[in-house]
Amino acid sequence: MNLQGKRILLGVTGSIAAYKSALLTRLLIKSGAEVQIIMSTSAFDFITPLTLATLSKRPVFSAFADQTTREWTNHVELGLWADLFIVAPLSANTLGKFANGLCDNLLSATYLSARCPVMLAPAMDLDMYQHPSVRENLRKVLSFGNILLDAESGELASGLSGQGRMMEPEHILAQVEKFFRKKKDFQGKKVLITMGPTQEALDPVRFISNHSSGKMGLAIAKSFKERGAEVFLVSGPVSVSINPGDFHFFMVRSADEMYEASKKLHSQMDICVFAAAVADYSPVEIAPEKIKKNDSEMSILLKKNVDIALELGKSKKPGQLHVGFALETESEEIHAKAKLDKKSFDLIVLNSAREEGAGFQHDTNRVKIFDRDGMKIDSGLIPKSEVADLILDEIKKAPVWI
Ligand code: CTP
Repeated sequence: MNLQGKRILLGVTGSIAAYKSALLTRLLIKSGAEVQIIMSTSAFDFITPLTLATLSKRPVFSAFADQTTREWTNHVELGLWADLFIVAPLSANTLGKFANGLCDNLLSATYLSARCPVMLAPAMDLDMYQHPSVRENLRKVLSFGNILLDAESGELASGLSGQGRMMEPEHILAQVEKFFRKKKDFQGKKVLITMGPTQEALDPVRFISNHSSGKMGLAIAKSFKERGAEVFLVSGPVSVSINPGDFHFFMVRSADEMYEASKKLHSQMDICVFAAAVADYSPVEIAPEKIKKNDSEMSILLKKNVDIALELGKSKKPGQLHVGFALETESEEIHAKAKLDKKSFDLIVLNSAREEGAGFQHDTNRVKIFDRDGMKIDSGLIPKSEVADLILDEIKKAPVWI
């Protein structure tokens, strides 16, 4: 009964593999979960709602309104109710809707409303699954943070053989149980995270900044929160939406403000993650009025900003753990290791500015994590939420805890 008390929405779409949803439902129920099923109408061609309603012990939903009572099926409530949303089987058609924000049935409306994690188990024929448009849609939904339960290989309904079979229900159950086993392994720990860019004012309307979106920092913050930590976010101006109830949130603009806010918190923290892209320099003078374009050339004198990680590294206490980031364009590993030593980091996360789909603004990232002994991990290109989990796993292994 590993899933005792867990609420699972199970979406079933039109695919021959829909018959496997009956077994999946039974396995989830046997493991203790509450299962609410939503079917697309094309799934009716492959399995009856009565079968799934009986196995799930709940009425199956498929339309926005009940045909007899005319009562509205609230997709927002369904989306909020669930701890996990699994779509198995996921047809190419529904994948296309999810990837593009289309919403023409209850299932796709619930997908757009759901705040819980989403697992997708595609089922398609061999060539469909490899089609560039399907690959592109899969890449898109992964970049939204959805979890792929990748199709398995074997004999397909068409008679062809290859990848495309929906993951076997037993394997899906194992993935779901693993997902919920995630321990609260940072319970009781206080974590400071600097994130986002800083803005260094030139005059009342202009500033110097960079392209940092804050996505990586926020993914780390969410992962710490999920794993039980109390998170203190010191963030520069970002466009990502932050749920203020989840964190202690300190909004700053300049490197100086970020330093002051972080310094106040530092001594109480167990872990500090310096994910901010702090501007290295700021204008020596901030013009009191908007600078006019009088001359054909102009120069701005800049002064070095405080290095937040370096300064706080000097007052690091035994048992405190510091994690830094490095974004490099050349001699990446040499520079990253030098920063690890210079700034008293226990771990450094190297982002390559050269990697396609990684770094600033992207939803995916590829990082290498180093400690003093060398490289611990090369993540490959994966969603930032998974990169965050890897970073936390490495933090957990650091000798400072032992
Ligand atoms: N950092 C910081 N304060 C600064 C500059 C950097 O806290 N003023 C932190 C970053 O958050 C990151 C690490 O130091 O964790 C390395 O940042 P990076 O910009 O890669 O390196 P710099 O030290 O600024 O060196 P350079 O720009 O010369 O590569």
